Amino acid sequence: MTSGDPIISAAKLLSEGKLVAFPTETVYGLGADATNDQAVAGIFAAKGRPRFNPLIVHFANTEAAAQEVVFDVRAERLAERFWPGPLSLVLQRNPETRISLLCSAGLDTQAVRLPDHPVAKALLASCGCPVAGPSANASGRISPTSAEDVRASLGGRVDLILDGGACPVGLESTVLDLSSERARLLRPGAVTLEELSEELDEIVVGQDQGPLRSPGQLTSHYAPERPVLLDAKTVDADQALLAFGPVPLPGAGKTLNLSESGDLKEAAANLFAHLRALDSSAYRSIAVMPIPETGLGIAINDRLRRAAAPRNIDELKVQF
Ligand code: TXA
Ligand code: MG
Repeated sequence: MTSGDPIISAAKLLSEGKLVAFPTETVYGLGADATNDQAVAGIFAAKGRPRFNPLIVHFANTEAAAQEVVFDVRAERLAERFWPGPLSLVLQRNPETRISLLCSAGLDTQAVRLPDHPVAKALLASCGCPVAGPSANASGRISPTSAEDVRASLGGRVDLILDGGACPVGLESTVLDLSSERARLLRPGAVTLEELSEELDEIVVGQDQGPLRSPGQLTSHYAPERPVLLDAKTVDADQALLAFGPVPLPGAGKTLNLSESGDLKEAAANLFAHLRALDSSAYRSIAVMPIPETGLGIAINDRLRRAAAPRNIDELKVQF
């Protein structure tokens, strides 16, 4: 561990092409200088991430982000209201951009966002470069919401982990595709469809039938080791239970409650940590109680469905 100010050390490592894990309000990111091809290639290697899955690039301010992409009036409007915050915008790359093409993974678009976390903000201000940052987990696994999670998932493959405590939102950012005329919600998150609809007229939800737009949104994702069973009505002693609300199902071997009061914000913040904790226990499967499909519940259920999806490599052929 380097002595002195960890932000200065982290910024220096980034400028040398090294990998730094950093906290954001959503989840921890695995950062590299987005303009350095070799550094960005290092992210794919450390995560075991398929090269066809593009990366979100993080910026210190809207002006810096707007330089690298075609930042239209829709983007300006959303940035004004939601940045810094848990919203990533997919936009056409500016032909002059310095962002490594690897970040776009062969697409002509680039996802950009301004995180709202003091450590991420300090790092971005201090390093002076855009920072490519997927979630700091091994590809296909649960996103980390603490420095300890990053250590457990990527450990020695990261040059420095900045510890900013638990991530307050706990779910990855909302991903909105503005690269064509029709806005498209590619990943639900803490900025909800209702909120986005207050700013934009028509938003299509989900992938289209054409070429894969957001390869990270393959069905199986965010997956614990153990099978995940949704909408549990009963539970056995050899199962772990992820409960929600004041009345957890009786009979589970171990129970963790996302929110006893039924608060969706609290549930989102606890989701990944609880899934990890139940996954490392000795139970046959993880049963999950129903979560309301409203507001933040939409993003929570999206992640739970992916955690429960069959882990079949053939899904690529099935889905697309
Ligand atoms: O909250 C977050 O977004 C976190 C923090 C660290 O910022 N990052 C994150 O990155 O979740 P990642 O790489 O784990 O997820 C990014 C998602 C993936 O589903 C990816 O396929 C999609 O965004 N994505 C990235 N660039 C894209 C693009 N140009 N077009 C379509 N989808 C894109
Ligand atoms: Mg991820």
